[in-house]
Amino acid sequence: MSSGARSHTAPPPSERRPVSLPRLAEMKENGEPIVMVTAYDYPSAQVAEAAGVDVVLVGDSAAMVVLGLPGTEQVSMEEMVVLGKAVRRGLRTPLMVGDLPMGSYEASNELAVQSAQRLVKETGCQTVKLEAGGIAVERARAIVRSGIPVMGHIGLTPQTATALGGYKAQGKTAASAIKLCEEALALQSVGCFAIVFEAVPAAITETIVEKLHIPSIGIGAGPATSGQVLVFHDLLGITTGHMAKFVKRYADLHETMVEAVGRYGEEVRSGHFPEPDHVYSVEPAELDEFRRYLDQESLASAKAWEWEPLP
Ligand code: KIV
Repeated sequence: MSSGARSHTAPPPSERRPVSLPRLAEMKENGEPIVMVTAYDYPSAQVAEAAGVDVVLVGDSAAMVVLGLPGTEQVSMEEMVVLGKAVRRGLRTPLMVGDLPMGSYEASNELAVQSAQRLVKETGCQTVKLEAGGIAVERARAIVRSGIPVMGHIGLTPQTATALGGYKAQGKTAASAIKLCEEALALQSVGCFAIVFEAVPAAITETIVEKLHIPSIGIGAGPATSGQVLVFHDLLGITTGHMAKFVKRYADLHETMVEAVGRYGEEVRSGHFPEPDHVYSVEPAELDEFRRYLDQESLASAKAWEWEPLP
């Protein structure tokens, strides 16, 4: 936390109210940082709920961290719907944002509205997110006009990472920073309720967010945004391998999980699991009767089922 910054805490669970769009706007106005995290299933949503985060994104990063795909381009609407439905069941208070996957909104305003409606109706998310400026600004306008709130996303936009030259920071030249600023202002002007800034130099983000009256959420964009977002699996250390510069790990759950599953395997192999605490008991009288049955009657009745060759 920079010097002079005020510390804010999440309200206790009993005092938490569902997070609305006006509440997010109020948080931006009051300088209360907005906490956003991704979730992809029921348990990750329950964790976000219990931790008191403000916004949960069912991100298309699921493609990589849940489905093991090389990028976000291949995740389908059907897959996003399955994940979103599970997340909904684990959430009560955070605002839920459904990510529109690549191919579900670019081709036309009609497709964009249909896809946004499908995510809202089938998963129960209250808002949707789409990526980049350009044609996405028109799509955002159409979705907002249809009555569904839209979160924009500029900077490193993974769905179009190939066209951007790979997974690298954006806005590092004056020309690129101007483009980002124009995209942010355009997304704001068509009614987006917030914008994600991904992998943008802190000083560029700071200059752009000064011009915005809507909340901004950063991921690798410095401290000037109204809030921060991280990918659930990255911050918990569930993902392994190369991590983006902006990821801070708050746990190393991969190691913890490997160690736990390894110990389970050892205990099964050595006969130390299950222990008496993990087994069900039966009344001795019932057990005796069962054994008597097996000794006397079952053999007789089993004879009736003996296989006889066809004549
Ligand atoms: O899909 C995702 O997880 C995202 C966040 C990185 C903002 O878009």
